[in-house]
Amino acid sequence: MTVPAEKNSSKPITYFVKTFGCQMNVADSLCYATTLESLGCIPADSDISADILVVNTCSVRAKAEEKAISYIGAMAHERPAFRKTSVIHQGGIAFVGCMASVRGDEIRARFPEVKVILPATEIDRFESIILSVFPELDIASRYEAHPVLRPEERFERFLPIVRGCANRCSYCIVPYARGSEISSRHPDEIFREIDNLINQGIKSITLLGQNVCAYGTDITDEWQDFKSGYAFHDLLSDIRKRFESADVWFKFLTSHPRDFSEDLTEAIASSECFSKGFHLPLQAGDDEILRRMARGYTSDGYRNLINRIRSTIPTMRLTTDLIVGFPGEDETAFEHTLDMVREIGFDSAFTFLYSPRAGTPAEKWADPIPRDEKKRRLQILIELQNEIALERARKHIGEERTVLVEGPATSPSSPGKGFVAGRTREGEVVIFPGDIIEAGKFILARITGAHLRSFSAERISIVNKND
Ligand code: SAH
Ligand code: SF4
Ligand code: F3S
Repeated sequence: MTVPAEKNSSKPITYFVKTFGCQMNVADSLCYATTLESLGCIPADSDISADILVVNTCSVRAKAEEKAISYIGAMAHERPAFRKTSVIHQGGIAFVGCMASVRGDEIRARFPEVKVILPATEIDRFESIILSVFPELDIASRYEAHPVLRPEERFERFLPIVRGCANRCSYCIVPYARGSEISSRHPDEIFREIDNLINQGIKSITLLGQNVCAYGTDITDEWQDFKSGYAFHDLLSDIRKRFESADVWFKFLTSHPRDFSEDLTEAIASSECFSKGFHLPLQAGDDEILRRMARGYTSDGYRNLINRIRSTIPTMRLTTDLIVGFPGEDETAFEHTLDMVREIGFDSAFTFLYSPRAGTPAEKWADPIPRDEKKRRLQILIELQNEIALERARKHIGEERTVLVEGPATSPSSPGKGFVAGRTREGEVVIFPGDIIEAGKFILARITGAHLRSFSAERISIVNKND
């Protein structure tokens, strides 16, 4: 591999961003790519050929960390030149994101190919740190960046509105990786960014936070022109006033069940521009386990919340996260989770085996249940939830839905060529016969079949987003 050593060389430095983890990382990866392009880098054809390989990592479970480590190992093997630390222009790996926050030193010691370690909390330092390690990136070559987007990012974008998490769920590494102080972005900055995204042709914007309900709670009096106590529902009301008639949907992720207010339900119900898809992680159905998890609600509290939202928005789509095998979860506690899953009726659920995380309180707690037993429980939960999800999905057959077309269908349930896939305002995947020329358009479709992770449908017509 040859890479220009001198400034003003004709061959630009190439980059590739590899992303592990959640939507927050997807949003951050776009920032890393944009910064590199503004410094004159261009996208590499592949990760193997990139001069600068940014690996954006996740620490939420052991498996996520293992994936990143084996990826770095494979890349290091493919790219012996990365190891020559004295030859900066030979390129190298920038190890960023959540794992860089909690295991950065260890990674630096283990992989000489890693030239940059940047914790997720320090994303603002990316440009200066890259410039210090790759000084050949010529400041003079800065230009307006248009990074290569993943196909799903052409029309849909994640917009972080609040960073960090002030909660301390006893199993969770996120506050350590992303900061335990919350930091809300100024509403004017958010409105400006929404304007920009709309001008770029973005049709679906997901307002992002570890807990979007915490938006504004860190602000005392610094926000001029906004009332004190400005909260997430105020932000939504202002978004509605400014952007309701624009050709764009607004989604939000994640909301903490403890903090979900009546005002917020009202704000979401007030306009068709807001998704009626709610991701409210339950985690467990047993009150003692919820207490030990430090979730701040009981099964009754959760039940009442869902009843309240459903009475205002009967068509709400409800998704959740569930953890199986938390320390102290006995057979009865697990049954309580199954009971809640039956009772509440989730349209979809992400189910996880508990993974002890270094430095969290739960890591030290006695956990006598064997892994095989935990796996057995997880399987039971998955089967139950799949049954419920399918049963709930079937009820939508015959309904007409507006779908934002994303691109050609790749889902296993897709019957083949000539099909497109898109998402409803609530986030369901819909596949129907169509032409990718309609990518980025809102299409009215009639649901004809329900599958576990998607609907099949027939195309009716092009519509406006709110039809
Ligand atoms: N901020 C979001 C997402 C947190 S991470 C929220 O609070 O909901 C996403 C999900 O990963 C969590 O909801 C939880 O279900 C799961 N998770 C977090 N830590 C975990 C751990 N140590 N083991 C297994 N699952 C975990
Ligand atoms: Fe983790 Fe809890 Fe914060 Fe979610 S609310 S990121 S689960 S600590
Ligand atoms: Fe997301 Fe993983 Fe970090 S879930 S916040 S990338 S630990």
